[in-house]
Amino acid sequence: MQQGVRIAPSILSADFARLGEEVRAVAAAGADWLHVDVMDGHFVPNLTIGPAVVKALRPHATLPFDVHLMIAPVDPFLEAFAEAGADIITVHPEAGPHVHRSIQRIKALGKRAGVSLNPATPAKMLDYLIDEIDLVLVMSVNPGFGGQSFIASQLKKIAAIRTMIDKSGRAIDLEVDGGIDADTARQAVEAGADVLVAGTATFRGGPGAYAANIAALRGQ
Ligand code: DX5
Ligand code: ZN
Repeated sequence: MQQGVRIAPSILSADFARLGEEVRAVAAAGADWLHVDVMDGHFVPNLTIGPAVVKALRPHATLPFDVHLMIAPVDPFLEAFAEAGADIITVHPEAGPHVHRSIQRIKALGKRAGVSLNPATPAKMLDYLIDEIDLVLVMSVNPGFGGQSFIASQLKKIAAIRTMIDKSGRAIDLEVDGGIDADTARQAVEAGADVLVAGTATFRGGPGAYAANIAALRGQ
């Protein structure tokens, strides 16, 4: 049933002193995408990494780089992340008043454009974006930190967005981020998700465990 689900390890839970090696290790362990959490200490209460780190990691893997921007303002940084090697760039409508413009800009930069919805943001936010976007990222925790618990109310939202996407007839990925383990992975996929972000559940146990951790998220 989970066949076809893609796993996107979040490097937020990797060993930051050995990031290049960590990226190579999850790629070798079967990761489909690499999820990069960018935080500004303003839109979310944590600081992480910028485009220089994305650029430094780029030669370490051919996997799509799935860059999740939790920063406000976001528009001034889109070009830098595109140039650094992002393949997918995801923005939050909550981070600024002009998310449609941000999406247009990401596409003009030749990248796939995603929108991320916080736990309290309704699916309805997508009504006038669905014809423009390539990905929806449902936050199943409040953004800012790894290792939080999955918020079960988001399953209903995932299902509602699955219906919207199917109705649109467009190839839009439905990705879920936060508190994903083998159990919540199954629930998210049953609700309609097709890409799962996992930080803690991928990186726990160190490199020797990554392949088994990723397989467990696929339900194997
Ligand atoms: C939270 C980030 C997530 C986070 C997921 O703001 O967007 O990607 O790293 O971490 P886990 O899988 O540990 O919940
Ligand atoms: Zn994320």
